Amino acid sequence: MVPSKREQFGSSFSFIMAVAGSAIGLGNIWRFPYMVGEHGGGAFIVAYLVCCLFIAVPCFVCESVIGRRGRSDVYGSFDRLAPGSKWKWMGFWSALAAFIIVAYYCVVGGWSLDFLVRSLSGHLSQGNPDGASVVFGKMATATVEPLVMYVVFLVATAVIVMGGIKKGIERFTKITTPMLFVLMVVMAIYSVSLPGSSAGVRYLVHPDFSRLDANGWACALGQAFFSMSLGIGAVLVYSSFMKKENSILAGGLFTAASDTIFAIIAGFAIMPAVFSAGIEPSAGPALVYETLPFIFAKMGVEAPVVSAVMTVIFFLAILAAALTSSISMFEVCIEHMVHRYGWNRKASTLALLGTVLLLGVPCVLSFGPLGGFKIFGMTVFDLCDYVCSNVFMTLGALAFTVFVGWIMKREDVKDELTNGGKLPFSNRAFKPLYFFIRWVVPPAILLIFISNLL
Ligand code: PFF
Repeated sequence: MVPSKREQFGSSFSFIMAVAGSAIGLGNIWRFPYMVGEHGGGAFIVAYLVCCLFIAVPCFVCESVIGRRGRSDVYGSFDRLAPGSKWKWMGFWSALAAFIIVAYYCVVGGWSLDFLVRSLSGHLSQGNPDGASVVFGKMATATVEPLVMYVVFLVATAVIVMGGIKKGIERFTKITTPMLFVLMVVMAIYSVSLPGSSAGVRYLVHPDFSRLDANGWACALGQAFFSMSLGIGAVLVYSSFMKKENSILAGGLFTAASDTIFAIIAGFAIMPAVFSAGIEPSAGPALVYETLPFIFAKMGVEAPVVSAVMTVIFFLAILAAALTSSISMFEVCIEHMVHRYGWNRKASTLALLGTVLLLGVPCVLSFGPLGGFKIFGMTVFDLCDYVCSNVFMTLGALAFTVFVGWIMKREDVKDELTNGGKLPFSNRAFKPLYFFIRWVVPPAILLIFISNLL
């Protein structure tokens, strides 16, 4: 296979920072901590680690094998590995999925930007706590403000992606991903030091296996998939820029480890503060944009400076996490346009920007003027989220694993995974990993697919 001349990540570290940046996102901050508390604390963390290691990592490896061997966008990679077959149509599936996700994910990115601006002006940490908790409701249901923030966030995503792999994505994620960790650790240390925070720590770590039922396992698996950005070709496309001498398995394990560690740190940054303020934890936007501003404002009464700094740190971290994820979705679409339609990167970025807005505007307005407009009982935003998380991502992940496990030749998979036998750890891991890819991962994905639909 002669790889075409293609940009490459400068090092294994750069590749890992880019994929970890894609993985670490809103899913880690507003879904993971809540799920942990709801499904048995430490018990859920154990279930999550099992799902990550035995299902999500093999799935990551499959996307990575296809991308690095195919050395193109999703369509081109499949076309190169299975010429003349219908597998290449996965390219359209992935690009469409990435397009829909980027359209609604950036809505939340816009909110983060809005809250960062508000926290910089001291708006969220001062004044009365009840006032702070209703800011979100007013902002999200408005028309102009969330639209402006959405466009700014989307343009920021586009500008980074327009720079290409080395000068855009690599340069940005190499700084931002480590920074994210530092910001969250600072926030976690502060949160744990608050009076009454120990109830929050207990909520997160106390293992209660009686609360970990079948639904808890399904949630752990679904969360592992979403959190590791699997199923829409983001890992595949990033891996197509990975150097041949880097290890795919190490990339998967590092990504899983950093993604999980970050999610746990985010849990410690959020839940102890929530409990310290005597509030019931929730999930989703309410946790991040209502509960936390309330807490920050409450702290602000006694310690205005500390509260103001912590508010900025927190929303900066959320914004950075959302950006490093949105650029990976954007890149899946850009690669598709560059390779399929032969446009240059700049033209593709501008065209995509315009097209995303067409779907993005109704997504933004789903919380305001278009709140009453429902399709299958869901707003445009909810429908996009539902279809992507439950259909596109799961079936995409299933296709990637079936392709590597059952369509590609075993020797080719082994060659790619072990760099032609040069990686001793991957050599040893190959047999069990391949077994999982064939026999465990596809049924597990089907299981989440069915349980999610039900
Ligand atoms: N992993 C991201 C999160 O946890 O928020 C979401 C995501 C990013 C999904 C990129 C899919 C993707 F391609």
